[in-house]
Amino acid sequence: MVFDVMKARQDFPILAREMAPGVPLVYLDSAASAQKPRVVMDAMVSMMTHSYANVHRGIHRLGDEATDIYEGARSRAARFIGAQAAEEIVFVRGATEGINLVAQAWGRTHVGPGDEILVSEIEHHANLVPWRMLVQEKGATVRMAPVRDDGSLDMMVLAGMMNARTKMLAITAMSNVLGVINPVREIVALAHARGIPVLVDACQAAVHGQTDVQALGCDFLVFSAHKLYGPTGIGVLWGRKEILDSMPPWQGGGHMIDRVTPETITYAGVPARFEAGTMPIVESAGLVAALDYLDGFGMDAIAAHDRMLHDAARERLARIPGLRLMGGAPGSSNIVSFTLDGAQAYDVASIADKCGVALRAGHHCAQPLMRRLGVDATVRASFGLYNTLEEVEQLGRAIEKAREMLS
Ligand code: ALA
Repeated sequence: MVFDVMKARQDFPILAREMAPGVPLVYLDSAASAQKPRVVMDAMVSMMTHSYANVHRGIHRLGDEATDIYEGARSRAARFIGAQAAEEIVFVRGATEGINLVAQAWGRTHVGPGDEILVSEIEHHANLVPWRMLVQEKGATVRMAPVRDDGSLDMMVLAGMMNARTKMLAITAMSNVLGVINPVREIVALAHARGIPVLVDACQAAVHGQTDVQALGCDFLVFSAHKLYGPTGIGVLWGRKEILDSMPPWQGGGHMIDRVTPETITYAGVPARFEAGTMPIVESAGLVAALDYLDGFGMDAIAAHDRMLHDAARERLARIPGLRLMGGAPGSSNIVSFTLDGAQAYDVASIADKCGVALRAGHHCAQPLMRRLGVDATVRASFGLYNTLEEVEQLGRAIEKAREMLS
């Protein structure tokens, strides 16, 4: 299918915004959070206008309609990632909460003194800090597999770090700083050969191409709706049913119980056991609209567009003297990080902002990777399905302007 970016742009009202008279918005921060198409907003407004009530509780028609929408979202999310059953989908606030859930509910049961959790050096803090919190409590350790200069994992080294004490391998499918894509299927095979379960952080990868949990073979996978052009406040934890079934609850409250007496509590089955309290109901309608929107283009078409922008951006930025491009492992996509000699990343991004170009600057919640790269911060451009080659050129011009002003 031919992807028509100019047509797609019409779906995003915010892209019509001028940041100053005559200065159009060039939004290159989709890795932090993607903009929302009208269909997502409409789905949420429609639910609140016609079918809103709490789910799983009301013995009334609106409650039933809302529950149908919410549970429909579970089935839709399952289909999006190739899950075997809707029950394998746990709704969470976002990927971060999903990883915390696994670290707590699974980790507290399975991790003890002397055990190890294996992660990589390119992990977002969301896939590092929850594990560090767990091991501090348990007297275990987190080990970090190193990456090469281009951001790729050395598979031999990674395999060599797996041992009988390794209780979990938690790994990103795509770096939020470098756009490096990890060979998840191969990594899972290595870990499973040693009996180690694998959690995949698919936050960046889920928006960049097809995600199929059966093909990946992993045990847990998380993603957030807001990076998939959907709303904030809802994300997905997918887990194999038998593993989820074996896990205790992590938060207590309404809906997650079977029976409560003054003396005893028994818990609901999966996924209700992990969904305490009122869940993101309206957001579930937005999630469905976002997934339908993406599948309307086809994830492969979106991935090809992202890659084209990424390659063009690296090529354009490489022509700027004093600009150091980070990463560059073969197959990288969607995200470009760089520094500019003699300039602070924040200053570069501020000048770009004056040109209407929205970038992220900082450590991108990946401080161990910053240390590996030998920098405190980078400037990051990340692309969405609505970005164009003209915007890549505007990025190049904005960085050239920053260079003139700062050097
Ligand atoms: N994880 C998001 C990012 O990389 C917030 O910017």
